[in-house]
Amino acid sequence: MKALSKLKERLRNENLLSKVTQPDYAASLIKNGMTVACSGFTHAGYPKVIPLALAERAEREESLRITLWTGASVGPELDGALASAIERRLPYQSNSILRERINAGEVDYIDVHLSQFSQMIRYGFFPGIDFAIIEAVAITEDGGIVPSTSVGNSPTFVRMAKKVMVEINLSQPLELEGIHDIHVPEDPPLRREIPIYIGDERIGLPFIPCPSDKIEAIVISDIPDNQRPWDPLDEISKRMGDNLIDFLRFEVKKGRLPKDLLPLQSGTGSVANAVFYSFLNSEFHNLRVYTEVIQDSMLDLIDAGKLRFVSGTAFGFSPSALSRFYEGLKKYRQYIVLRPQEISNHPEVIRRLGVIAMNTAIEVDIYGHVNSTNLLGSRMMNGIGGSGDFSRNAYLSIFQTPSTAKGGAISKIVPMVSHVDHTEHEVHLIVTEWGVADL
Ligand code: COA
Repeated sequence: MKALSKLKERLRNENLLSKVTQPDYAASLIKNGMTVACSGFTHAGYPKVIPLALAERAEREESLRITLWTGASVGPELDGALASAIERRLPYQSNSILRERINAGEVDYIDVHLSQFSQMIRYGFFPGIDFAIIEAVAITEDGGIVPSTSVGNSPTFVRMAKKVMVEINLSQPLELEGIHDIHVPEDPPLRREIPIYIGDERIGLPFIPCPSDKIEAIVISDIPDNQRPWDPLDEISKRMGDNLIDFLRFEVKKGRLPKDLLPLQSGTGSVANAVFYSFLNSEFHNLRVYTEVIQDSMLDLIDAGKLRFVSGTAFGFSPSALSRFYEGLKKYRQYIVLRPQEISNHPEVIRRLGVIAMNTAIEVDIYGHVNSTNLLGSRMMNGIGGSGDFSRNAYLSIFQTPSTAKGGAISKIVPMVSHVDHTEHEVHLIVTEWGVADL
């Protein structure tokens, strides 16, 4: 009885109660060769129990292959467990098993700008979506899907999929409801401006609209997001952070930046998270963040009273920061808005707000070109992610990197990069532990 009333609190459309089923059954609906589009972005808000059931099936049915689309990288219950059954993957990943299969030529990996993937789907550039699988904290009376810890491409996946499955995750607090802002732009020639002028505006709905008859299966889950710990702050990151702050201070002094700076974007990964910590001990206040992934350092800045708001598409917290976020959700949610990645990374908004973009490089060269994706020019690491969305449209495009990798054995400053993701034309500043190169 108690379980049922708990479920009704989250599944508010009574007609959908009959759709509640077991993960095995939901997974059995996915057939060989289908395109499955899942919620999820940086180990946050991705479906878990249906992919795990599908992975079990893939072990028995060795020939099972699917195309997998997500927002970006996702946790091991999806990219890891299913790795052997994935034959095509878009638009970004960071899983070591999948990476090996991509580099062995076994997975067709299409590495696209994260802001563009949703519109490419709507434009019809790819075959259709058979199933969208979305992790949710609740389904509203009208069938609206309330996402959990990421939004990613889910609104377009739900709109364009033939059928939708929902994983209601009881481990995700219901208090996440209201943090999301779902807006999907019209497509050309009908597209109008995106009305975000400061960065924290809410311009859409707090749920993803979905006709109830499109929902084919609902599964209950209680597996938490499998977030990764970030590398601890080290001396090199601290020096990089100090160099970055010195540079920004100089720009303020010269009148090229306002004293509260402009909205900040920070790339993903340990380096980006560590460097962002440098704002904590700086004189900068009233900071605004318009970014893709909301990381640990941003919670600390909220706690220190230095951030006015954070707009992103997903939480990329370490496990300890995730617990802290859940405990302080009532406070943190006043500062945070989660948007579709098409909006968090949209060139129009980034250019209008004058975002200061800070991304991490694999290597940079003396001409100012940046390699973000391919080790030695041909071994895919993760993908371009949102780094191109931000660097090409930023007020100030900064790339940060320690000067060496692998304990000093490999220089990350090279005569000519082995692969170009960002040309000299969209790179303004390179920061290492030794200083900055103002290009
Ligand atoms: N040659 C060989 N290996 C290299 C290397 C180089 N030039 N540069 C980095 N590496 C290795 C590191 O040694 C490390 O390997 P390990 O995991 O075995 O220790 C790994 O690559 C990651 O590097 P690290 O220095 O820990 O940085 P990171 O975790 O911050 O990741 C990127 C750096 C570039 C891989 C990551 O930021 C990325 O994928 N960027 C592209 C997407 C992006 O920018 N998204 C943000 C947009 S919002």
